[in-house]
Amino acid sequence: MAASNAGRHPQNVGCRTLSLSAHVGFDSLPDQLVRKSIKHGFCFNILCIGETGIGKSALMSSLFNTNFDNSPSTHFLSSVRLRTQTYELQESNVLLKLTIVKTLGFGDQVNKADSYQPIVDYVDAQFEAYLEEELKVIRSLFSYHDTRIHVCLYFISPTGRSLKTIDLLTMRNLDSKVNIIPVIGKADSISKTELQEFKKKIMSELVSNGIRIYQFPTDDETVSGINTMTNGYLPFAVVGSMEKVKVGNKMVRARQYPWGIVKVENESHCDTIKLRRMLCTNMEDLREKTRAYYESYRCCRLEKLGCRDIGPENKSISLQEVVEAKRLEFCLEKEEKEKKIKQQFMQKVNKKAAVLEEAEQQVLTKFERLMLTHQEEKLKLGEKKKILEDEIAQFIEKKAITESILSQVSVSTPVVSLKTQGLQKNQDFQPEVQCFCVRDEGTVNVGEQSERESEKEKLEKENSSREFQE
Ligand code: GTP
Ligand code: MG
Repeated sequence: MAASNAGRHPQNVGCRTLSLSAHVGFDSLPDQLVRKSIKHGFCFNILCIGETGIGKSALMSSLFNTNFDNSPSTHFLSSVRLRTQTYELQESNVLLKLTIVKTLGFGDQVNKADSYQPIVDYVDAQFEAYLEEELKVIRSLFSYHDTRIHVCLYFISPTGRSLKTIDLLTMRNLDSKVNIIPVIGKADSISKTELQEFKKKIMSELVSNGIRIYQFPTDDETVSGINTMTNGYLPFAVVGSMEKVKVGNKMVRARQYPWGIVKVENESHCDTIKLRRMLCTNMEDLREKTRAYYESYRCCRLEKLGCRDIGPENKSISLQEVVEAKRLEFCLEKEEKEKKIKQQFMQKVNKKAAVLEEAEQQVLTKFERLMLTHQEEKLKLGEKKKILEDEIAQFIEKKAITESILSQVSVSTPVVSLKTQGLQKNQDFQPEVQCFCVRDEGTVNVGEQSERESEKEKLEKENSSREFQE
């Protein structure tokens, strides 16, 4: 029996549809899946981006109706950081492994140009970790804790004006990697009419800046109505609270003010409950879209590694061929690199050798110069020595003459001989002076003579000390 292809899954186009004559039992397949999923549990990862104190922790606690750890972060961080916390939540018999990643110090730096970078890096790192697990020879994806971000709640400050540059920059850098849902934090601080205007402004700014945000799917008939309506509420105006307030005889999560109470779960007060409902009903779609983002990341990474599905002539190529081609490419690249490194090494060695040679030359010339100066000095010293030797010879000659004169004088005059005894003590006494003394000795009386003698002795002493110094 041939059947029309209309309304069929694309995979089944071309197949014949037959109706069974009796029950077989494969209609229990969905139940099997449900049982397996319940047993394994679900995992969901939320990234909260927003300024310090915008209400990230309060909203998370309000969304999941539990009080998570809420240690406030400081305003004085030098760069944006991320804090990851994983919880296991159970509702009925369904287990949810929830990971909440929150920014710390977002928007607190003077230079906010790179504030988005740590967030982008984090999202990529989760994709990379999953890819690594996937490429392992022995992999365990079933038990692997998938940390890929399924949804990003972007907190906008309730200024009532427009988006800040940091908001536009961050969302633009993330919109191809995660499902972004913009929310207006602390929405109770803005009036109802202002809020509507603010929402419109934000949406038009996002469109004009080409930023894609998550749209709740409208192709599924069961949720298309509510999703179309909810898309109109974007960005959600959220209010969070860690406290419960008694209203009537019920405890409700709310914020109490002198003028009244803002109930977190009241749809006419804020959109928190709409956000919770949409997250829960579209969790699987969010996970599926995340897989699509991951696919494009994976594709880019594998292409960078040289992996392709289609060869040069548009033919499909096997993994083995890809690996072989890559191996060849790698070998060639390695050879090329080796050649380059060798060349660079030789260049460096030659350069070093030239420098050493030059230094050696410089040392040699310096040494030669020093040798020359040394020889010159030596020559000069030799000349000086010769002059001194001549002077000494002259002096000895003069001394001999003086001595001979003195000896002659001592023979002819006895008084003088007395005197010369004193003079002889000093051999170097000037002969002229001695001659003068000898000639005058005959005419002086004894008193004068002794005076002169003492003067002479003085002169002798002076002479001898001068010689000694010389
Ligand atoms: P950090 O983790 O330190 O960056 O702060 P946060 O973004 O987690 O903010 P948190 O939830 O700790 O709230 C900071 C302050 O704002 C607290 O005093 C909250 O009570 C208050 N707050 C939180 N949500 C709201 C809200 O929706 N409206 C108002 N008016 N105040 C809020
Ligand atoms: Mg917090």
